[in-house]
Amino acid sequence: MNRQFIFLVIATMILACTRDELANPLDGELRNRLIQLSPNNNLEYFQLPAEDDYVNIPHDPANPLTHEKVKLGKLLFFETGLAVNSIHAEGAGTYSCATCHVPSAGFMPGRVQGVADGGGGFGINGEGRIISDTYKEEELDAQGARPLSLLNVAFVTNTTWAGKFGSGHANEGTENIWGISDPLTEINHLGMEGIESQNMEGLDLHRMEVNDYVLDTLGYRAYFDEAFPDFSEEERYSKVTTSFAISAYIRTLLPNQAPFQRWVKGDLVAMSDLEKLGATVFYGKAGCFRCHKGAALSSVEFHAVGVKDLFEAGGLKTDEDDKRNLGRGAFTENPEDNYKFKVPQIYNMGDSPFYFHGSSKRSLREVVDYFNEAIPENSRVPDSQISPLFHPLNLSEGEIKALVAFLENGLRDPDLVRYVPDEVLSGNCFPNNDPLSQQDLNCQ
Ligand code: HEC
Ligand code: HEC
Repeated sequence: MNRQFIFLVIATMILACTRDELANPLDGELRNRLIQLSPNNNLEYFQLPAEDDYVNIPHDPANPLTHEKVKLGKLLFFETGLAVNSIHAEGAGTYSCATCHVPSAGFMPGRVQGVADGGGGFGINGEGRIISDTYKEEELDAQGARPLSLLNVAFVTNTTWAGKFGSGHANEGTENIWGISDPLTEINHLGMEGIESQNMEGLDLHRMEVNDYVLDTLGYRAYFDEAFPDFSEEERYSKVTTSFAISAYIRTLLPNQAPFQRWVKGDLVAMSDLEKLGATVFYGKAGCFRCHKGAALSSVEFHAVGVKDLFEAGGLKTDEDDKRNLGRGAFTENPEDNYKFKVPQIYNMGDSPFYFHGSSKRSLREVVDYFNEAIPENSRVPDSQISPLFHPLNLSEGEIKALVAFLENGLRDPDLVRYVPDEVLSGNCFPNNDPLSQQDLNCQ
């Protein structure tokens, strides 16, 4: 009896396994490939942490993640009340970090370029933002490349397309040019990680500040007290703590509900067959994995794939001679780095159809075609700089469709609203609070 029972259990287990494999050989194939590519023969290498797994989310040792910091950062990131240093009175209190990093647009701007101070309107996904007549072009808060997504930013040790912030990792050995090639990178001398460093500068750059109005009128002082009890009162309400809270929050922006993530955790029906096939192409024939690595599908490595620059897509306050078009080279001033850009994460890319640093592509199909054909579109980038990994892939129409389905659905977390607060302390409309945005966002 006992023996029969054990036999039955074992038989059922064997049957269940083979049934899964038989039911879908795509699962077995993808699984084997991923295990082969992982450094320790384990699917966990591709698994993102839970957003509240504060110990395992990569962080700066100077800024351990806590619930209180994340809670404060989640408000500050969307708080248009921080916009106290606008160039014209009209812009005051109208924009936030989320103006250029819109959650419904995959934490990208939903348009060719991010414009905070000097813009107005939202549309339905950021696309409806227009430039105010009051602002001259040079007065806009707009940068020379499309804003990076903030999903998976915890895995980014050196931030920006050029990787210029952060004192360690890719920037070891670049100390001699900190503050010189780009004045903002002086901050790297503090010895912090990229995110914490950048966000201190970002507040100034985007004309935001936590001042007495924000602390006492809007009511954030108690939140800083809760989040930073170890800081003396002189140091508790500063650019450092503001950056730390916002940094803690953005490190939790993990698209771990994406079908591919659920599949990696064992939910074999989370992805469709087409998406599984697409994943196999991604990790096989198409070679995307050689640059888009790990769980975040990014890397702090710099490659030239010869795409156009932002001025060519209508970007303002930038032009053909913009030094930033040199990518990593503009920061390191080493000609070998010219035209090379950081490998971005690629989850929720379908949420905002403006791809590459210069927003030169409008659909994921166009992106895949570009990598498949591998003909650089920017004639200013010398062939000698183009990555040897950028070469024709000879993908079939079926493989292309599958790869696009993987990018569009397999890598799309459908529930990013969990990272958005219900309201901010000012009660303002967010991410934007100008009159046109208030209408667009139904805030009135
Ligand atoms: C005017 C639009 C705009 C606003 C407002 C804005 N950003 Fe950004 N953000 C960008 C752009 C553009 C980049 C890419 C910059 C580059 O590569 O030089 C970027 C990049 C980043 C990165 C680096 C991501 C990476 O992978 O390297 C972080 C972190 C970031 N922003 C955080 C913030 C925070 C926090 C705020 C609010 C304090 C903010 N941003 C407000 C436009 C904006
Ligand atoms: C040589 C390394 C490399 C390979 C191989 C590679 N990529 Fe990328 N990928 C990059 C870099 C670098 C960028 C940013 C380029 C830029 O904007 O200048 C990028 C950008 C992207 C973007 C746009 C991200 C954004 O924020 O706009 C997508 C989507 C993407 N890659 C998907 C793929 C797919 C799919 C494949 C395989 C067919 C692939 N990549 C192969 C390096 C690579």
